[in-house]
Amino acid sequence: MKSTFTQAEIAPLASIEVWEDDLLARYPDPDAIATAKEKEAYRNYEDPQRDTVRAFYRLNHTYQTYNFVQEKRTEFLKFDKKEMPVWEAFAFLNTLIDDSDPDTDLDQMQHLLQTSEAIRADGHPDWFVLTGLLHDLGKVLCLFGEPQWAVVGDTFPVGCAYSDKVVYPEYFQNNPDFTDQRYNTKYGVYEPNCGLRNVDMSWGHDEYLYQMTKNHLPEPALYIIRYHSFYAQHREHAYNHLMDDHDHAHFKWVKLFNPYDLYSKVPTPPNWQKLRPYYEDLVAKYLPAKLKF
Ligand SMILES: [Fe+2]
Ligand SMILES: [Fe+2]
Repeated sequence: MKSTFTQAEIAPLASIEVWEDDLLARYPDPDAIATAKEKEAYRNYEDPQRDTVRAFYRLNHTYQTYNFVQEKRTEFLKFDKKEMPVWEAFAFLNTLIDDSDPDTDLDQMQHLLQTSEAIRADGHPDWFVLTGLLHDLGKVLCLFGEPQWAVVGDTFPVGCAYSDKVVYPEYFQNNPDFTDQRYNTKYGVYEPNCGLRNVDMSWGHDEYLYQMTKNHLPEPALYIIRYHSFYAQHREHAYNHLMDDHDHAHFKWVKLFNPYDLYSKVPTPPNWQKLRPYYEDLVAKYLPAKLKF
């Protein structure tokens, strides 16, 4: 892999929110799997922002190799970068400035609070509310200088054939693993239905936060955190051949969470000062005083 990237390769999107805006265009319907017709309409839609998303996925699909993922795991799963209370981490995440979207003007914290408040309003258990609040905290990777395509974007298994159900699958042809016989067969380095716990996903904010919180949250919460960007599975069901019954049972939670993530944007931001005591108690119930990043 290249050792240095240009600024355009590090940040092809005006902001990382552009990826999520694009997900809404791809999945306008909360429950539906995209039909062939919708996919065609999505791809043919003329939009300069769409072009930056395409550039983003070209980089993501080119460089997210099996080896790249192993390197990032070694680099970041030591958690030796920073230690801070969750509240400081939210403030840190908010320093990721998004100036691409003047209409909504929502910072990272607002997205997290809107997600968690929508879950709370539907009467779900408190750990599910907490999951809504935390799920994108791994995006602090951007603040450690990581390129956007190694932080956000749809995730997919590496070490085996890439599914054409992943968005912009044609860009996988640029990936060296695409022609590597160790990694380009249906099962690659894995066994049939070996369970996703044995499968390495493309590197990003999902896996990073999962590893950070895995000893503190109930298992359904951990599935949500770990696989919420795995659209090729939770929307398209493209990787059933790697999943076991335990995964299928827990993906019900991933599916239940997805609409709260994508469709909970509201024009009036939640009143943080009013909500703060509730969330302070909730965080204290499940998480240690400080998290290691
Ligand atoms: Fe996310
Ligand atoms: Fe999110």
